[in-house]
Amino acid sequence: MSKVVMMNHPLIQHKLTLIRDKNTGSKDFRQLVKEVSMLMGYEVTRDLALEEVEIETPVVKTKSKVISGKKLGIVPILRAGLGMVDGILELVPAAKVGHVGLYRDPETLKPVEYYSKFPADIEERDFIVVDPMLATGGSAVAAIDVLKKKGATSIKLVNLVACPEGIEEVERCHPDVDIYVASIDEKLNDHGYIVPGLGDAGDRLYGTK
Ligand code: PRP
Ligand code: URA
Repeated sequence: MSKVVMMNHPLIQHKLTLIRDKNTGSKDFRQLVKEVSMLMGYEVTRDLALEEVEIETPVVKTKSKVISGKKLGIVPILRAGLGMVDGILELVPAAKVGHVGLYRDPETLKPVEYYSKFPADIEERDFIVVDPMLATGGSAVAAIDVLKKKGATSIKLVNLVACPEGIEEVERCHPDVDIYVASIDEKLNDHGYIVPGLGDAGDRLYGTK
């Protein structure tokens, strides 16, 4: 069963309130999404394996820890997921970035795939799939399907705002994938929008309609 990790850190919750506010414009929205993503990335990378290496400080030779084990891959679900990449990359600049292009058909609410590209050594990486919104869960499930078909075996999902319906769908289809969220909102409305949510994340990030 997926582990669902709620990130209650005061900085995350404060910034999320600003993100939700309809009066927050695209420039601030982008900056806040980047900052929250970095804060969430700190928690998501908490279990990275460490190894000891020998180094020399200006004073003495010593052993000290560095990150070891599998390498990381970040996979934004286009387009809104792009807004979360830079914040996490600032923490782990050596991570490679794959992309899955999906949009949600406004009538059926089903995801339509239009693009995917991943690092060559996909089996050797731990992947972090990022998307600000987990609504019906269709996009996240489809993105994880694509990644798994290409050979990925270790995947985490990170969303700013989720709802019970989306979490249940990911748990049902991908019980091996842990989900990290800053909020689990009340519900989906009849148009598939999260309530209270933050509106259309892609449009708010990029100033489109
Ligand atoms: C939004 C959002 C997710 C998806 C969530 O993308 O960024 O990818 O909807 O909805 P779901 O859980 O019901 O699938 P959208 O389809 O609006 O595309 P965009 O990022 O290109 O704006
Ligand atoms: N996609 C969004 O951008 N917002 C929602 O509330 C649901 C799906």
